Amino acid sequence: MRVLVVGSGGREHAIIWKLAQSPKVDKIFCAPGNAGIMQLAECLPVKAEDIDGICAAAKENSIDFAVIGPEVPLAMGIVDRLEAVGVKTFGPDKNCAQLEASKSFTKAFLARHNIPTAAYSEYTDKQKLLDAVGIYGYPMVIKADGLAAGKGVILAADEKEAMDAIESMMGERVFGSAGDLVVVEECLRGIEASMLCFVDENTIVPMESAQDYKRIFDGDKGPNTGGMGSYSPSLVIDEALQKRINDEILQPTLAGFQADGLKFKGVLFVGLMLTEEGPKVIEFNNRFGDPETQSVLARLDTDIFEIFDAVCDNRLSEIDIKWSENRAVTVVLASGGYPGSYRKGIEIKGLENFLPAPSSLTDEHSTIVFHAGTDVKASCGKGSTKNAVVTAGGRVLGVTAIGKTHEEARERAFAGVQKISFDGMHYRNDIGKLNRPAE
Ligand code: AMP
Ligand code: GLY
Repeated sequence: MRVLVVGSGGREHAIIWKLAQSPKVDKIFCAPGNAGIMQLAECLPVKAEDIDGICAAAKENSIDFAVIGPEVPLAMGIVDRLEAVGVKTFGPDKNCAQLEASKSFTKAFLARHNIPTAAYSEYTDKQKLLDAVGIYGYPMVIKADGLAAGKGVILAADEKEAMDAIESMMGERVFGSAGDLVVVEECLRGIEASMLCFVDENTIVPMESAQDYKRIFDGDKGPNTGGMGSYSPSLVIDEALQKRINDEILQPTLAGFQADGLKFKGVLFVGLMLTEEGPKVIEFNNRFGDPETQSVLARLDTDIFEIFDAVCDNRLSEIDIKWSENRAVTVVLASGGYPGSYRKGIEIKGLENFLPAPSSLTDEHSTIVFHAGTDVKASCGKGSTKNAVVTAGGRVLGVTAIGKTHEEARERAFAGVQKISFDGMHYRNDIGKLNRPAE
């Protein structure tokens, strides 16, 4: 099998690392990839959102099977397009991709099928929204309906912040058309958890649970990011709670898909708030999460290609998905200044301390570095290394480690972090500690 993975983050690096372990996969391509992915796959210079370019590259390289990482090409209908040119593709079609691309679509779906979530109302008129300010009290949860690179949700602490947020979404249109419709929600309180699930038309199978850290600074302070770290399994989901999540959320979601004619195939990422009343859905994403995937896949013992292929054929129920008992922790190393502006092209030191792709993680090789925003730069200037790996994005690397206990995984991940350096490198020291919400 010749497999093409679309995307360029740590999530895609982790997916490719698992695909490389499959005896069924002969060659892996990635569009566009990064400096780490390059060691396992042939990188093609095509952007993930360039659907025409991806379809052409798939044909040119005789691709048999494609896996889509990010949400934007999914929302653009990349799966429909690749399938139309004969490439079997893992990911939801354009119709199902609305579950991430429109918060209003998802809220209506959840309400229609009585799946627990926050109360909400929606607005297309700025004045009506301004009149409704504080409708569920504060913080006021204000969400742009469309995709906004993870920045479209604002938790406004008071009336002034709420008015400012509304003005920027609907007046200045900082998220463009994504903010023409705004969803306002009741603020849920509790601990968050991420439940990634494999889904085909007949079956939903949760992966091991995970937790991520969205804020930039320790103690969950500062602005939201794409995710500064993760661990798996969640420290708060026990068997009884997992059963509730399954019975009250996952099975009703599958039944809802079937009732609504949504032929969802791929990964459904269920963002949960574990409230005093029980688990509630915060959001759906229609793809693997980043950086949850790095921690979750570090524990997957089953051939990932077999799972992807089964999902495409509606054979998911036949696959026995196995997970290791190990715990996993991922610490993200970010560029100084992220999620604001930051410099690129800074040389990264210390990567030689790690095996690029251990075939599985063991006590001896417990740690793997997944690349996100990295690139290779041919030597230039005095004192620079030949073919140096340099920074090329906000989130640069993720150090993932496994251990028999959560603490062991955490210590190993931070020991790995100490071996890497680049100018301005920033990471959170509290990844792996229980992330209680700030009151
Ligand atoms: P989303 O992009 O929908 O995942 O929202 C980003 C983050 O905002 C979530 O991970 C939560 O931390 C927070 N959030 C979103 N909706 C709510 C809500 N209704 N109540 C409390 N927090 C929320
Ligand atoms: N880590 C959250 C996300 O991937 O959306």
